[in-house]
Amino acid sequence: MQQLSQSDLPAVLEIETRAFCDPWPEAAFSADILQHAWILEVDDQLCGYIIYHLVLDEAIILNFAIDPDMRRQGHGTHLLSRTLSELEQSGYTRFYLDVRRSNRAAIQLYEKHGFMCLGIRKSYYNDPEEDAILMGKILTNQGNSHDS
Ligand SMILES: CC(C)(COP(=O)(O)OP(=O)(O)OC[C@H]1O[C@@H](n2cnc3c(N)ncnc32)[C@H](O)[C@@H]1OP(=O)(O)O)[C@@H](O)C(=O)NCCC(=O)NCCS
Repeated sequence: MQQLSQSDLPAVLEIETRAFCDPWPEAAFSADILQHAWILEVDDQLCGYIIYHLVLDEAIILNFAIDPDMRRQGHGTHLLSRTLSELEQSGYTRFYLDVRRSNRAAIQLYEKHGFMCLGIRKSYYNDPEEDAILMGKILTNQGNSHDS
């Protein structure tokens, strides 16, 4: 896992357009947003990326995808768990994200990492319109998740 750099952007955009029905436009990958972004490479090929935002003790996952041709091989698990553990080590204790209600693959993956459903944002997404599930993982002093 390494920091996403400007030279990775073409490969990231290529995955982005294949991974999402409503991909981020190129302009969304601004230098500011890319301050907190990691890529995962496998055999020198960019396999996936994760982008997050930091506020106080909270980390919000903004974008996360694995190349469609490289899924179900544990790469998503690897990238998410490495990211969460790096953030935990840096003192972040609250992790949040939004996910499309129909995105069973991602929801299962997040649940396996201790995220829980905190609420529903009605019609949060466009193209197509869909509710978002707000998921969160909050660490206690012992490093475990709890549900408040
Ligand atoms: C979600 C995503 C990142 C998972 O990446 P991945 O590398 O395939 O994930 P892993 O191989 O580590 O899978 C881990 C677990 O996630 C769940 N999972 C992954 N893909 C799944 C699928 N198609 N259906 C059901 N569960 C799935 C399973 O529980 C899986 O464990 P298992 O393989 O032991 O059953 C990938 O599917 C993706 O890029 N999706 C499109 C972009 C996206 O939805 N991003 C999240 C936005 S919130």
